[in-house]
Amino acid sequence: MITDFPSAPLPLPSEDELTAELAALGGEAIVPKGLRRTIFPVITKEDVFNLLLATRQDPAAVVAGFAEKYRDYVGAAYALPTASGTASLHAALVGAGVEPGDEVIVPAFTFIATAQAVVAAHAIPVFADIDPVTYCLDPAAAKDLVTERTRAIMPVHTHGLPADVTAIRELAKRHGLAFVEDASHAHSASVDGRIAGSIGDAAGQSLMADKNFPLGGEGGIAFFATADAHARAVEYLARHGIDYRMSWIAAAFGASQLERLPFYDAVRARNAALLGEALEGTGLFSPPHVPSGHVHAYNMYRITLNPEAAGLGDLPVHAVKEAVHELLVAEGVPAREWQNTPIPCHLPFTHRAGFGNGHPFTLNPGAVRDHVPQDFPVTLRMLESTLVLCRELRSPVEYERVLRYADAFGKVARRPDAIRDLVREKDYPRPYEKAARLG
Ligand SMILES: Cc1ncc(COP(=O)(O)O)c(C=O)c1O
Repeated sequence: MITDFPSAPLPLPSEDELTAELAALGGEAIVPKGLRRTIFPVITKEDVFNLLLATRQDPAAVVAGFAEKYRDYVGAAYALPTASGTASLHAALVGAGVEPGDEVIVPAFTFIATAQAVVAAHAIPVFADIDPVTYCLDPAAAKDLVTERTRAIMPVHTHGLPADVTAIRELAKRHGLAFVEDASHAHSASVDGRIAGSIGDAAGQSLMADKNFPLGGEGGIAFFATADAHARAVEYLARHGIDYRMSWIAAAFGASQLERLPFYDAVRARNAALLGEALEGTGLFSPPHVPSGHVHAYNMYRITLNPEAAGLGDLPVHAVKEAVHELLVAEGVPAREWQNTPIPCHLPFTHRAGFGNGHPFTLNPGAVRDHVPQDFPVTLRMLESTLVLCRELRSPVEYERVLRYADAFGKVARRPDAIRDLVREKDYPRPYEKAARLG
């Protein structure tokens, strides 16, 4: 039987390793091959027992039990468990009153499902640029896009950092819009003590395998502030014969895992703090900014490069990022881009076939734009100057690994000469000049 369990624990790094040559230039990698896997989620015997038990219970009761337990944890008024995050966003939008042909403002930087859920509701996604510091929807950019046909604004709590909900709520109130959260990255994230999912008029959240709170496969949940919105969503799904029901096996696993969500959250927060402190010391790298009152859930950890601080300010930032990316991967740090172009530049929003014959885009042609990446300069700057760690910070047994990541960032930052050589040797394209990638 092949097991995921590592053959040995990762030792703490030694002084020799820290001063070794870069792995890309023939030295030893900071994270040795064979010790690079992370294990998440942890599955206990209670999880397995609860799964087995669920197979003997009323499926609807298992799902309802999970939804109630998690709704209570989030502090939302009403919940609707779904088969996926995309389904939950669709339900949240229709519950919030979005109708065919309406416009919904979404960020240009997110996962494509945010915008596709709007299309699923037969509405038109209108894309706004992001804030240059938080990388979440910029309320000022959103304000400029409001028209008579705007029905909702749907920020994303990107990577787990809550968006500027105060400004967004004010904007929504001023123009009579629904405020719908995409809380897919933001399990347990909060603003002034209110957990993501309970802040807007409605919210959708993914619970799929790659999230901080995974149900073991696919899953999602919609939240609503009012009984009316909840009833509207339930009635919409029934009227259209849409089966978005959550699997009860997933729900049983989720109810069991929920007990440990605060533990996972604390480990992620610790890992992020540890890494953040180390990055601050490098000059070249900055950790994510977290505004006061916000609790970041760190579903992803986006690191910003400051080439000037390393004497590399004369080089194009995207090329420095690509070179650094290569050097980090050679050290065993699984850094990645996560999105390489604004969402409106992905095929579904350039060909706009929609459900056929261009529907729903044809319902409101005035809302539709032929976007090029340069329409979103803040998103482009972010794509050119940042790298992401995803799953790698989540595992609860990986303190040693985070230390090694921190050391790898330090090792690379101490070698601007190697970064410069790579940039000189290679003709790196800008992220959005490569084919659009999902994730
Ligand atoms: C921001 C965001 N919204 C929505 C979704 C859609 O969730 P799902 O894949 O569960 O449908 C995702 C999934 O990764 C996401 O990252």
